[in-house]
Amino acid sequence: MDNIILIGFMGAGKTSFGKWYASKNNMQFVDTDVHIEKIQHRSINDIFAKDGEEAFRDMETALIAEYAEKKSSGMVISVGGGLPVRECNRKLFKELGTVIYLRASTDTLCKRLSGDRSRPLLAGGGLREKIEALMAKRKDIYEDCADLIVDTDDKSFEQVEEKIMAMKENRR
Ligand code: S3P
Repeated sequence: MDNIILIGFMGAGKTSFGKWYASKNNMQFVDTDVHIEKIQHRSINDIFAKDGEEAFRDMETALIAEYAEKKSSGMVISVGGGLPVRECNRKLFKELGTVIYLRASTDTLCKRLSGDRSRPLLAGGGLREKIEALMAKRKDIYEDCADLIVDTDDKSFEQVEEKIMAMKENRR
């Protein structure tokens, strides 16, 4: 399928870049977090607090399995930062399309995520340590499943788009 899957850490800019890229390229934008909150009629914080992280991960897997099942094309799919961790989800990526890892430095992530209250895994202080610990677990996973890695620090959306276009050209 001819979709674009945006992966990366919380705060990497998947949603903001994804919306911009989708509208510029006449594609449909989907965000797994927003979609889950819509289906569940509650926030991710609430899902984590009441049902726990594993229940949320099951919801993520069910959702991308549904996208793959529907065989829709022309979507930009921004996935939650923890979604690529499950191997079965990464297998579904292969059916869905091209995986782009929006990589950002810890400094950038710290700046963007300080004061954020919407992400349960970062709640309760020690933001930098939390980011570093999670990133250490996820770094290789993100890099290994990406068809393209784009370092987004100090890059404009146009520059990120150029990298994607160049990759598409090379594949022809
Ligand atoms: C998570 C990332 C969040 C959201 C949830 C868990 C993670 O999405 O799915 O809070 O485990 O990294 P964003 O990456 O869109 O912030």
